[in-house]
Amino acid sequence: MVQPKTLLIFFLFLSLLLFIETKHNHEEEEEVVNRSMFPDDFIFGVSTSAYQVEGAYLEDGKGLSNWDVFTHLPANTVRGQNGDVADDHYHLYMEDIDKLEYLGVNAYRLSISWSRILPRGRFGEVNPKGVLFYNNIIDNMLLKGIEPFVTINHFDIPQELEDRYGSWLSPQMQEDFVHFAKVCFEKFGDRVKKWVTINEPNIYTQFAYMYGTFSPMRCSLPFGNCSAGNSDLEPLIAAHNMLISHAKAVKLYREQFQPKQGGIVGLVANAFHYEPYTDDIFSYQAVERSYAFNVAWIFDPLIHGDYPPLMRKYVGNDLPKFSKQEKKLLKGSVDFLGVNHYTTFYAIDCFNSDECTLMDNRPNRGFVARAIARDGIPMGDQTGVSGFQVVPHGMEKVLNYFSMRYPNTSIYITENGYCPPNHLEGSEMLHDFKRIEFHKAYLAALANAMRKGAKVKGYFAWSFMDNYEWLKGYNTTFGLYYVDRRTMQRKARLSAKWYKDFIENAEKSSTISTF
Ligand code: BGC
Repeated sequence: MVQPKTLLIFFLFLSLLLFIETKHNHEEEEEVVNRSMFPDDFIFGVSTSAYQVEGAYLEDGKGLSNWDVFTHLPANTVRGQNGDVADDHYHLYMEDIDKLEYLGVNAYRLSISWSRILPRGRFGEVNPKGVLFYNNIIDNMLLKGIEPFVTINHFDIPQELEDRYGSWLSPQMQEDFVHFAKVCFEKFGDRVKKWVTINEPNIYTQFAYMYGTFSPMRCSLPFGNCSAGNSDLEPLIAAHNMLISHAKAVKLYREQFQPKQGGIVGLVANAFHYEPYTDDIFSYQAVERSYAFNVAWIFDPLIHGDYPPLMRKYVGNDLPKFSKQEKKLLKGSVDFLGVNHYTTFYAIDCFNSDECTLMDNRPNRGFVARAIARDGIPMGDQTGVSGFQVVPHGMEKVLNYFSMRYPNTSIYITENGYCPPNHLEGSEMLHDFKRIEFHKAYLAALANAMRKGAKVKGYFAWSFMDNYEWLKGYNTTFGLYYVDRRTMQRKARLSAKWYKDFIENAEKSSTISTF
């Protein structure tokens, strides 16, 4: 007869076997991502922008930017915070370059503060100390084998251009932008081989001229309640001037600099992915319109030479027109498209249904409202930015869209990153497991898209370190590095260590657990 003790041991052994087997199966189902899934010459970098990290807002001859003025006015930003000091990168850049070297990134995406180089735009002189600052950064990065990936304009402009003629609302801005770009190509183009002209015309114009929450705070009802502006028209006019500015700067680069300097130039747009809110034709059309009014609006002119036909169909003559010559200038005016991808939304049709008014949802472009949940079920984990959820497959879908619409065009993912829902304190602040999971999952989706043909050449995590987040200040923390606001000390989060490890160990796999 079998002893009870033997029976117990037998069952324990059986359970252990079952446990190992289930775990093994589970792991097999998990997606895996590693460095070797990307080409050898793939860029893995991190990204920042001038106003968000530099500080030194009045030092060494810098002029006032629109953000310096805007953030100093009461109640414009959370807790009245501003970028006067930001990460004090202006003084700590050498330390920061050491950290970039530690991370093992092969590129760093930074932007140039327009008012540091040209304090009064084209109405004044070049500021030599501003030029020296960027020369120091570029030279020291190159010494460490890190390539500069430089954005000429990332939201900040000399205030004088706003005061003189209303900045992007005026065609005069085209001349100013080309002048600024020329100075950048002249001063830095011998060493900078990857240029972005403008960051996110779609997001900038949305906040500056549609919702009126960024400088110059222009909007109209129902989008926002500003003292002046027109939310239907002005975003279109401002973006129109941005696109033409881009095209003129690229013409100049291609004629006068590219042959000698041999760099490439592109433009960055923000691209969310959209899923239909309901399973009917109207929702699918809402998805189509969302892409057209938010993404193709910016990229179609650069590739095809004009706005998407769907926009023209709905907006008619309110959509500005490019002259024949401008179309020629725009068509093919990028060597690559830069894509900032953060999240996915449901698209709700507001054209054929009254769903939007019923939901009291803030209207968006293209007669579409956005939702982040369906039947009470959110699409993904909520992050620290309102409406941003973790939806990794959106990365693959958004890239599929580009592969279809702009085949043969190279793409860089110029921003992708995670901010936790709460401002974390203590050790939690550094132990950012969710950020690691976010990057792994989005990178796996990116690898899938590339396997299916997406021509992606690089990926930049937003952000290198915690920094000043436009309206929200310092509690929105996207950084791989934590920054202590009192001491300015930078500390590597676990995600920084993970990214380093990921970049350095080609074969080592990172499995992805679900959020
Ligand atoms: C902008 C960044 C910003 C990030 C996170 C992007 O749209 O380019 O400057 O910090 O989003 O909100």
